[in-house]
Amino acid sequence: MNLKTLTLPKCLAIAALLFAAFQTGKASAQTTTDNPHMGIIPAPASVTKNTGSYTFSQLTLIKADNPKDKAVLWLKDYLQSNRHLNNKISKFNSKLKPAKSAGLILTAKGADKLPKEGYKLTITNHNITIVGKDAGLFYGIQTLLQLFPVETSGSYKLPCAVIEDSPRFGYRGMMLDVSRHFFSIAEVKKVIELIASYKLNTFHWHLVDGQGWRIEIKKYPKLTQVGAFRQQTMFGSNRDWPDSLSYGGFYTQDQIKEVVKFAADRYINVIPEIEMPAHSEAALRAYPELKCDTVAGQPPPRDINNLYCPTEQTFTFLEDVLTEVMALFPSKYIHIGGDEAGKEPWKQSAFCQALMKEKGLKDEKELQSYFIQRIEKFINSKGRSIIGWDEILEGGLAPNATVMSWQGEEGGINAARQHHNVIMTPQTTGNYFDHYQSGSPQEPVSFGRYATLQETYNYDPVSKQLTPDEQKYVIGTQGNLWTEYVPTVAKLQYQIFPRVFALSEVAWSQPKNKDYTNFSEVRLAKHFAKLDAMNYNYRVPTALTTIDTMVVGPHFVYTLTSVVPGAKIYYTLNGRDPLDTDLQYDSPLTFAIPQNEKRELRTRVITPSGRRSIATRTLMYNKAPLPAGSYTANKQGIKYKLAKNTFTSPDQLSYVAFTDSATVAKIDAEPLKKDNPNFGVVYDGYLNILADGTYNFTLASYAASQLFIDGVQLTESEYALPLAKGFHQIRIKYIYNAPPPATGRYRPRVAPLKVYVTAPGTFEKKELNAADLYN
Ligand code: ACM
Repeated sequence: MNLKTLTLPKCLAIAALLFAAFQTGKASAQTTTDNPHMGIIPAPASVTKNTGSYTFSQLTLIKADNPKDKAVLWLKDYLQSNRHLNNKISKFNSKLKPAKSAGLILTAKGADKLPKEGYKLTITNHNITIVGKDAGLFYGIQTLLQLFPVETSGSYKLPCAVIEDSPRFGYRGMMLDVSRHFFSIAEVKKVIELIASYKLNTFHWHLVDGQGWRIEIKKYPKLTQVGAFRQQTMFGSNRDWPDSLSYGGFYTQDQIKEVVKFAADRYINVIPEIEMPAHSEAALRAYPELKCDTVAGQPPPRDINNLYCPTEQTFTFLEDVLTEVMALFPSKYIHIGGDEAGKEPWKQSAFCQALMKEKGLKDEKELQSYFIQRIEKFINSKGRSIIGWDEILEGGLAPNATVMSWQGEEGGINAARQHHNVIMTPQTTGNYFDHYQSGSPQEPVSFGRYATLQETYNYDPVSKQLTPDEQKYVIGTQGNLWTEYVPTVAKLQYQIFPRVFALSEVAWSQPKNKDYTNFSEVRLAKHFAKLDAMNYNYRVPTALTTIDTMVVGPHFVYTLTSVVPGAKIYYTLNGRDPLDTDLQYDSPLTFAIPQNEKRELRTRVITPSGRRSIATRTLMYNKAPLPAGSYTANKQGIKYKLAKNTFTSPDQLSYVAFTDSATVAKIDAEPLKKDNPNFGVVYDGYLNILADGTYNFTLASYAASQLFIDGVQLTESEYALPLAKGFHQIRIKYIYNAPPPATGRYRPRVAPLKVYVTAPGTFEKKELNAADLYN
């Protein structure tokens, strides 16, 4: 994880944009009626707004084809629990035309013409009709309820409209890892309740992983007696100190059944995941006899405690486990993991090598494929199908497997080309909700890269690389919440909200109905208000879209807005992050900055329930351009000096003796890595600036490199410099230490030496052009 390599490009032009926003007088409080989707998330397929309204109250009669239908029962319970309404529900006379009847009509009459899971909601002055069958009826009800105001009152005025809607994808999923941190049945139900109301239809329950086995298996009681507990609250690459406290928990089979029913009542299918052959430390702590044989007198191989040995005993164990699992989960799909299996124990096991010979398997990848195919055969024999992470492609795909593409989109593309069904959930496209939500160091500690709301929103699961025929194999998409860094419900909610709203729109809405500006600046308002009212945690969007910015110039105007209804915006000019004791924003802020002086504006949003956004920081600097130097040699290339030592900071390069030096055509430290495991290098030369203006400089890693222009150090927070046309001195310091080997998703990254420049008047961050370097 290297947050610093991922800082957003920062542009002077942002000031101009903000100024433009001020000129257009953006309103800070939005209403749900000023947008084409009526505030509904996910955006419906078609909305026709009409004049007039219908007032829903206790007096509204509800008539349903079947008052005992689960969608109707769900509505009854919702109205009682959340709206204090106890409406009478009677049987709808199907001989009547729905339009003739008063009240709220819930009927399947006419639903045969609708697409699968589709509905038609009609609100007139006279009545409300939802035409839909099964899930379609449930989704029509969800849409209707989104039109209710957030506040509870005796009656609800609903605008007249016709909404026709159906999903883009049949698989719309959310995964929750309950192994790394455990969440109770009540907490899991809360997640299910919420995703159902945003029209997701699959809850992928990651019940098993190295850090805890969470499902009771009667035949193997030690799986939970031993495997469900660990002597550590946090673990792995978490930055917390180890506490050595017992931590864990598991679900009894009765509890699992309760969750499966709760989900089914909301048209959510629960897919259990039982990881194999790796991510199995918890099971192997309970049943170490399922590990591989090792060579006497030698240290055991890496992953020995993590990987099942493909013995008959292991297959019997897994088939027994899966038999109990399949009895609890009616899901057609059973997820068998398959990811990140380090094969060293199989390489070193005499048993595995003999098995490979016997079965004609040429390497351990084929052995993994043999493993998965055997399990698939067993699961298929019970009338079910397997899903596996994209590593199940390696060594040959099991004949009927569905692939969950996570490492990127390649696995999914590859599987679709082999005519296998695919669920797209890449860690590279905003589908990993354990990732940070911005590049700010103020974000709570999380995993890996960052995935903004916009990235999640803009993802299209159907790759353009696929032909129309291949595209049909993409059955849907999913968001994944891994919980290494999610020890609490508050953090769980923070990580998924609002990204799960974006996911729901990706999974449900047609691309032509998607519009990020409308989604993020208008429609989210009501959904944040709902979360706020329910006292759910969520990531509060900041008042400025660019979180950490530097701008150069004498005059700036900022208009601040929050999409969260009723939120207040606080700001400071004293370099401290704002609190609710600071200045409260109420009208545009104007800055006139004296020559060579800086001003720093920080802002923070605080919602009615007291939730705070991270603080934004905008540094304004009124600096005159640095004059060009008197360099005239006109020799292309740049000089470097090399020191072959281990360094911990580029600062140390000011105090060392260099052993090598040379002139090279471009700044590229990669060739130096071939011969040197650890080194430091300093580049010196001139940069030819082609036009007067403010240039933004960024580095791939501020921990490993430093950049100086005319002796001024450019940093992560002060990276913009006005430069006159002509030659300017450039100096770069870089240190490198060879990384430890990669393990699965934990891939140590060493940022290469990269210097990026954003030229005046552009947004594009480009790598420094070698042709502009001189010495
Ligand atoms: C995964 O993220 N290892 C599927």
